[in-house]
Amino acid sequence: MGTLTNKRILLGVTGGIAAYKSADAVRRLREAGAEVRVIMTAGATEFITALTLQAVSGHPVYQHMFDTGAEAGDVQGRTSAAGGRMPRAAMEHIDLARWADIVLVAPASANFLARLAQGRADDLLTTVCLATEVPVAVAPAMNQQMWSNAATQSNLAMLKKNGISIFGPAEGSQACGEVGPGRMLEPADLVKLVSDLFTTGELDGLTMIVTAGPTWETIDPVRGLTNRSSGKMGYAVAEAAVEAGARVILISGPTSLPDPARVQTIRVESAQEMYDAVHAHVRATNIFIGVAAVADYRPAQKAGNKIKKTDETMTLELTRNPDILASVAALKPAPFTVGFAAETEDLEQQARQKLKNKNLDLVAANRVGPGLGFGTDESSLLLVEHETVTELPIQPKTKLARALIHHIAARYRAKKFATVHVLRRP
Ligand SMILES: Cc1cc2nc3c(=O)[nH]c(=O)nc-3n(C[C@H](O)[C@H](O)[C@H](O)COP(=O)(O)O)c2cc1C
Repeated sequence: MGTLTNKRILLGVTGGIAAYKSADAVRRLREAGAEVRVIMTAGATEFITALTLQAVSGHPVYQHMFDTGAEAGDVQGRTSAAGGRMPRAAMEHIDLARWADIVLVAPASANFLARLAQGRADDLLTTVCLATEVPVAVAPAMNQQMWSNAATQSNLAMLKKNGISIFGPAEGSQACGEVGPGRMLEPADLVKLVSDLFTTGELDGLTMIVTAGPTWETIDPVRGLTNRSSGKMGYAVAEAAVEAGARVILISGPTSLPDPARVQTIRVESAQEMYDAVHAHVRATNIFIGVAAVADYRPAQKAGNKIKKTDETMTLELTRNPDILASVAALKPAPFTVGFAAETEDLEQQARQKLKNKNLDLVAANRVGPGLGFGTDESSLLLVEHETVTELPIQPKTKLARALIHHIAARYRAKKFATVHVLRRP
């Protein structure tokens, strides 16, 4: 697992000599865990073929804004390959803009920088850059005179002012034989800079526990009670917290997901094991987020051998599991405690009940049911707090997790500041 796991990167390639490095950039971004789609300008196709970038990215390359036949024809293939929300026919500029977590243009020609600075939308790439709300980064590459030209420099100043990240360029010998600034950064440097863009630092220096997945309550050696949680949301929350700078301990029930990068993952099975693992680490924790779908009950007895079929009916006696969330919120001092509530009805009311009963700081509620919540790649959340309710609309769980972490970081800081303030009052 790399530093860009689950990130969706839209790579724009424009017409410069350094376009030959774009293929290596795609490969390295994918090695770092990202899913990469490529848009080429007409100029770029003079330097590198779409076939090469299609081969290394594993997806058809986008080139034309008005090529309705091609858009309609390959949308279905992309939909299944992406496994998520992907372009509808003839609206690629909008759907690609929404699909991406970041747009990286490498190499970015002088001509492209000029068009971007002016806010032009005269090809697919510039249109997507205008239509997206995610970060846009450019890696300029050009002859050193073109780079130093006052027009290029004033375009760059405009781009910086508009919030565009400028990666490089490096100095050195150039393809034209001159020496100076204008070389595109190496693909490995671009991967590092893209990774850094996802790092917010909002939770720097803080420790967080995230629980995720279902629990498994053993009935006998081959059977157990569990639920439909896939762990996707909890894992996405853990990853988003790492990006925000936290040290994260992920305590996970049984899932088929790999351990996230840069996260200390502890695997458990039952609710009791999850409770024990949480309490072994929670004392040094600033924030606790209980995303796991923990079984409320477990079989009163675990059979040592496989239970045989005998009577027409059978009764399984269940006993209550410890309430992990409530036990964490009751600690003195307690970490900032966030619970998840998966409900089929009365979302806000149920969440508010849970908030009060367990004395939590925040409940993130989501609706579950056929096609909603468990196992899906997209979800929405209602963030219920004592004074406020905030809605995070439907979006990929990775983006949703980042929005949630951003919200929690702000609330954590506000609560900490309020506490310090009260303590210092004479
Ligand atoms: C051989 C050759 C190499 C070029 N290399 C660069 C380059 O490295 N950087 C650049 O900004 N323009 C370069 N250009 C000029 C661009 O290809 C030209 O401005 C083109 O219109 C860019 O189109 P685009 O920005 O839409 O991709 C080069 C042109 C040629 C003929």
